[in-house]
Amino acid sequence: MRKSVIAGNWKMHMTCADTKKYLEEFLPLIEEIPNDRKIVIAPPFTAISTFSSYTNFDYLNIASQNIHWEDKGAFTAEISPNMLIEHKVKYAIVGHSEPRKYFSESDEQINKRAVFAQSSGLTPIVCVGETLEQRERGEADRVITRQVEQGLENTDPSNLIVAYEPIWAIGTGKTCEASDANKICALIRRLIGFSDVIIQYGGSVKPNNIDEIMSMSDIDGVLVGGSSLDPISFSRIANFE
Ligand code: PGA
Repeated sequence: MRKSVIAGNWKMHMTCADTKKYLEEFLPLIEEIPNDRKIVIAPPFTAISTFSSYTNFDYLNIASQNIHWEDKGAFTAEISPNMLIEHKVKYAIVGHSEPRKYFSESDEQINKRAVFAQSSGLTPIVCVGETLEQRERGEADRVITRQVEQGLENTDPSNLIVAYEPIWAIGTGKTCEASDANKICALIRRLIGFSDVIIQYGGSVKPNNIDEIMSMSDIDGVLVGGSSLDPISFSRIANFE
């Protein structure tokens, strides 16, 4: 039985003071969460320590928004697994479309991050997704296949989360039809060849579409940007039916 994973990505939002205020409101709202699911939030690096001192890790865990493929060295602006594990971080987002787009992250780099995260004891959340142009040209399946084959090479599917995030649905308010998203998630599962791999959908997930998304057979969770910044919205998402 696959456990659902509801993840929030705060991106470049939230100071330490904001984090404290958020968690004081959010934690009581998820206290009675059913135990068929896990909740994860990726705060900015500067707020991880504050976050870690407020959560009890029973039902809420921490993700990082990046992870490097070496433990230390001359890699300005990068972060290593050791630095994250010290703060009880358990997951690491890699391959999100924003670093792919703004910082030209390649499938090869994404793969190195994912492999090193796993060998360091963390669970990578590897994002894949096609642009609107690629979808309109009928290339979505081909793009996803390439990202999965190259990005996930030599990873262990039993300690992995893959997030299918169609780029045109991120931060736009346009959600992919739940049944279309489900088809791509099923394709990802087939490509990986491990039926228990956790596959999330991401892209304009909101309190009003979460129940339909989570009713899909191949969607085991969500990766939420904008709606995870509001404790009431995100607690509704985490309490999906
Ligand atoms: P969104 O972002 O929920 O704001 O569309 C999703 C993401 O970037 O993971």
